[in-house]
Amino acid sequence: MTLCYLNGEFQPLAAATISPMDRGFLFGDGVYEVIPVYSRRPFRLDEHLGRLQRSLDAIRLPNPLSSAQWHAVVSRLVAKFDADDCSLLLQVTRGPMAVRNHAFPATITPTVFCLAESLHTPPAALREQGISAISTADIRWLRCHVKATSLLANCLLRQMAVDADCAETILFRDGILTEGAASNIFVVKDGVLLAPQQNHLMLTGITYDVVLELAATHGLKTAVRDISDAEVRAADELWMTSSTKEVLPIVALDGQQVGAGETAGQPGAVFWQMYGWYQDFKRTVMRHG
Ligand code: PDD
Repeated sequence: MTLCYLNGEFQPLAAATISPMDRGFLFGDGVYEVIPVYSRRPFRLDEHLGRLQRSLDAIRLPNPLSSAQWHAVVSRLVAKFDADDCSLLLQVTRGPMAVRNHAFPATITPTVFCLAESLHTPPAALREQGISAISTADIRWLRCHVKATSLLANCLLRQMAVDADCAETILFRDGILTEGAASNIFVVKDGVLLAPQQNHLMLTGITYDVVLELAATHGLKTAVRDISDAEVRAADELWMTSSTKEVLPIVALDGQQVGAGETAGQPGAVFWQMYGWYQDFKRTVMRHG
């Protein structure tokens, strides 16, 4: 039985229902977080709750739960899940409305939904082989720093990758790299890790922050700045990062191998370094919280 949390109650997912007048359903009017849990320890929970708060602030929706309440909900779902690792979804919408109206209702009863699901971290073979990506223009709105549930553009963009037998779609706005349809993108060039700068055109990933922290800790040179389409195509290495995928090497972009020389089309040396640092960091977190 899969357990979920809906509006103050823990209940079987199969029994959970929401109103068809919910603004999350009718307008995509809500925000969410996806949090990986390793050995029953949520990874970077406070950072995820911090980003949830910023998303709620951005859409002018008061946080329905206190930090202690979020922690309690998360603890119970993690404790009840049938595996030590899982992926947690926390979602808040502006709740149901009596009549369909784009403007906010006078009284708001937010819908709070939380669910633990199986976590499928990428298998070793995928890392060793690397993944392929396509690229296209970023057609999303100008508030991509908000982790909103209105993900239609992201879904269409991600499906383009699936249709092309690829794992991710890399997005460019006016010739500048923003992110992936459901991930952040990093470039390695001449031993320097390049990361797109945080702004309203991309979501600042919790994994993105971890990768930059690990780079700083281990003395890997980084530059956080605008990255052009040409720089992405001339990259020595390309990575995608997200909470569920961690760090994955992209070895082909739009049918062209990433990198040059003998190692073209293969995961790069800097990727393997970062992957090792990431796994060590996870182990430390699992031991000490
Ligand atoms: N998405 N950018 C976008 C558009 C994303 O959807 C995600 C993750 C990220 C990476 O953020 P983080 O490192 O905090 O997971 C960047 C999640 C996993 C999802 O929607 O399922």
